[in-house]
Order: sequence, then structure tokens, then C-alpha cells
Amino acid sequence: MVARTERALLGCLPHHVSDAHPLVDGMRYVTLGGGKRLRAMLCHAAGELNSAPLETLDEAAAAIEMIHACTLVHDDLPAMDNDVMRRGKPTAHVRFGEANAILIGDVLQTQAFLTLAGMNLPNSRRIALVRELARAIGTEGAAGGQAIDLACVGGQMTLAQLIEMHRLKTGALIRAAVRMGALCAVPDESEHSMLFQALDEYGFSVGLAFQVVDDIIDVTSNSMTLGKTAGKDTVAGKPTSVSILGVEASRRFALKLYQDAEAALEPLGARAARLSQIAEFAIHRVR
Ligand code: IPE
Ligand code: IPE
Ligand code: MG
Ligand code: MG
Ligand code: MG
Repeated sequence: MVARTERALLGCLPHHVSDAHPLVDGMRYVTLGGGKRLRAMLCHAAGELNSAPLETLDEAAAAIEMIHACTLVHDDLPAMDNDVMRRGKPTAHVRFGEANAILIGDVLQTQAFLTLAGMNLPNSRRIALVRELARAIGTEGAAGGQAIDLACVGGQMTLAQLIEMHRLKTGALIRAAVRMGALCAVPDESEHSMLFQALDEYGFSVGLAFQVVDDIIDVTSNSMTLGKTAGKDTVAGKPTSVSILGVEASRRFALKLYQDAEAALEPLGARAARLSQIAEFAIHRVR
């Protein structure tokens, strides 16, 4: 899936301008050659439940990964987490300068939506895909969650507030990846609501678990393994799952969320085996 996503991204990134264009160069730098491609995997696995065409899933997955890369570029900016390493390389603002990094994030967004708008699907499906992805990064998604994250630096947070922040800043895009995969297929009308309810519950639990694990590995792993600076949440005074619950209780919380994700898949039966494997990967990962 990593190689497949790489090819899909290559096909969806701009071709019409010279490779030497600083923004095009930057888009390639931050999207290609790294990343676990979890969101692309989720999109494919949800689409394959109802036999969505692989080429359709490739385009949706590339759009999601472009948006994800945009959130990472902006998350690393000096005004946000001020990080110098991402996917084992210097961050976009270190490599291209801060102003270009902001613009690289912007053009990744426009390219993602151009990709969705150009997909070979009925208009209603294309609009649904655009709406899903836009919602996942707006006030009720990543941007809203990032605003809470930044406002709470150095402060206290209840577990309920942390869950809400994680649901928005990370969970929303992960859930959207699952829903968008399903939107690339034509589900049987009779199972439509059951399917989306199961996928929503699964996406919610995996999305939340993913950020809880991100908080854990920030303190338990090292920069070499992570490809990003380890230990930075504590230094920055971020409220995280670890700062609120500690490492062990955070691990139990992530495991509980994994079990919730598995339970959500039950109505889908054996068809959901791939989604189940991905949930397990999201919990047990070391980077
Ligand atoms: C990192 O996401 C940011 C979070 C939402 C925790 P990933 O851990 O999926 O980053 P890549 O794509 O593998 O680099
Ligand atoms: C990132 O959370 C969430 C988004 C990018 C929306 P973090 O700030 O914890 O991600 P890392 O640890 O820098 O990858
Ligand atoms: Mg952050
Ligand atoms: Mg960060
Ligand atoms: Mg983190």
C-alpha cells in the first residue's frame, strides 16, 4: 500500500509547472518518500468492503494523504509545534522557509480538492467526497482541534476535553478516510445506514486511539524510530493522554479503544478483516 500510495500521489500532484517551482518541489518533498500511509490504507480497506474500483480509491487516498501532509507541515511551523524533523527529514519550513511552508500547506489543500473534483464519479459522489474532506479539516475537524491544542499549552485539561481535542485534531481526518473509502463504492441501499454507522464508530475509535498512541510514543520512543523529535510534548507543556493519564493508563485506554473498534466492525463480518488488521497496527505501532 505504501508503494501504491506513492504512485497515486505522483499521479495527482501538479504536472503542469516546472519541477523547479518552489511550491511543486515542496509538495513533492512533504508528500513522497515517507509516512505510514495509514489514512490511505483505511480508505482502501473501507472501499474494498463494497468492491470500489482501486483506481478510484487511489485518487481519494492521494487527496487524503495530501491533506494529511498539509496538516503536518502547518503543525510543524514555528508558530505551532516548532518542529525541525518530520519523516526523518528537515521539516518544510526548515527546508523551504516559513512563508513557503505555509504556501506548501495551502497548495496541498487546493490540489487535494482539485483531485476530488476531477474524479470520474457521479456529481453527487464527488460532492460528498469534497464535503467529507472539507469537514474533517475545518472548525469541526483538524483546524478546530489544533486551535484547542495551541490554546491549552501549559494548562490543564480534563480527560473529556482531551478526548474532544483528539477527536477533532486527528480523529476527524481518520474517520473521513474511512467514510471516503466507502463513498468510492456503491453500497447496497439496504445496508447503507448499517455500513456508515459501523464505519463511523470504527473511525472514531481508531482515530482517537491513534492520537493516544502518538502521545505515548512521544515519551517512550526515540527520534530515530519516530522520524520526528521525541519528547517534545513534555518540553512544550502540551496536555496529552500521557500528561493526564500516565503511560500505563494511556496504553489501557488505547487497548479499550481498539476493542471498541473491533466491536464496531462486528456487523460487517469477515469482509472487515482488513479494517481490523489496520486497527491493530494503529495500536501496536512503534512509530
Ligand atoms: C502524525 O500522523 C500526526 C498525527 C495525527 C498524530 P502519522 O503518524 O500518521 O504520520 P505519518 O504520515 O506516518 O508521517
Ligand atoms: C498532530 O498532533 C495533529 C495534526 C497534525 C492535525 P501532534 O502535534 O501530536 O503530531 P506530531 O507528533 O507532531 O506528529
Ligand atoms: Mg501539534
Ligand atoms: Mg506536532
Ligand atoms: Mg504528537
